Amino acid sequence: MSQALIELRDLLFAWPGQAPLLDIPQFRLEAGEALFLKGPSGSGKTTLLGLLGGVNLPAQGSVRLLGQTLAELGQGARDRFRVDHTGYIFQQFNLLPFLSVRENVELPCRFSASRAKRARQRHGSVDQAATQLLAHLGLADPAMLARRADSLSIGQQQRVAAARALIGQPELVIADEPTSALDADTREAFIRLLFDECRAAGSSLLFVSHDQSLAPLFDRHLSLAELNRAAAPREA
Ligand SMILES: Nc1ncnc2c1ncn2[C@@H]1O[C@H](COP(=O)(O)OP(=O)(O)O)[C@@H](O)[C@H]1O
Ligand SMILES: [Mg+2]
Repeated sequence: MSQALIELRDLLFAWPGQAPLLDIPQFRLEAGEALFLKGPSGSGKTTLLGLLGGVNLPAQGSVRLLGQTLAELGQGARDRFRVDHTGYIFQQFNLLPFLSVRENVELPCRFSASRAKRARQRHGSVDQAATQLLAHLGLADPAMLARRADSLSIGQQQRVAAARALIGQPELVIADEPTSALDADTREAFIRLLFDECRAAGSSLLFVSHDQSLAPLFDRHLSLAELNRAAAPREA
């Protein structure tokens, strides 16, 4: 079998003082896949995404991203590895409010030389990469790019967050319930844009949500309870 983009083996994780939340014998995400992982609120989706980024480390077992076991890296190296290879779209978007739209989108290229290099190779410059990604996502107005992030609507913030995740073509784009604030039509349109841009960048997509109605849009869907032996039986 070829190398998986993500591979979990015998992963066990508990928050301090709590019962095990995640007990996942095996999970793989292949390069190029768009996977929908569903689970109710509180089932451990965001915790799992933190483990994939090396923000949290498992008590037992391993998280491998692109063949690298995250726990084998020191904290600084793990942080660099994450920003080099992963783009995150957070549930609350986590844009830096005092930075402009453009500065927010370009941020990963300031922390990652490899993403800056890929952005330049594909678009000529990091500035051009941000401009083109935002235009593809429906934010083409130059005045918009200069605005502070805290002056945007929710739908605009979401698209800025997506452009920030995609810039510099990380191998993996992770989306943590990024559509919960949108109505159904806007949700589907946003996911289709995300697919197009991930495909164009060659990025795999791991999208988590409690919203089951999104599942049919994806190549593959799974419920966290199917993977997780620590899940309450009612979730299965
Ligand atoms: N930083 C944390 N410290 C302690 N417990 C946490 C922390 N983050 C999440 N939890 C607990 O872990 C469980 C799963 O949370 P979470 O991963 O956020 O689920 P989901 O994203 O599926 O809603 C919840 O019981 C939550 O209270
Ligand atoms: Mg969550």
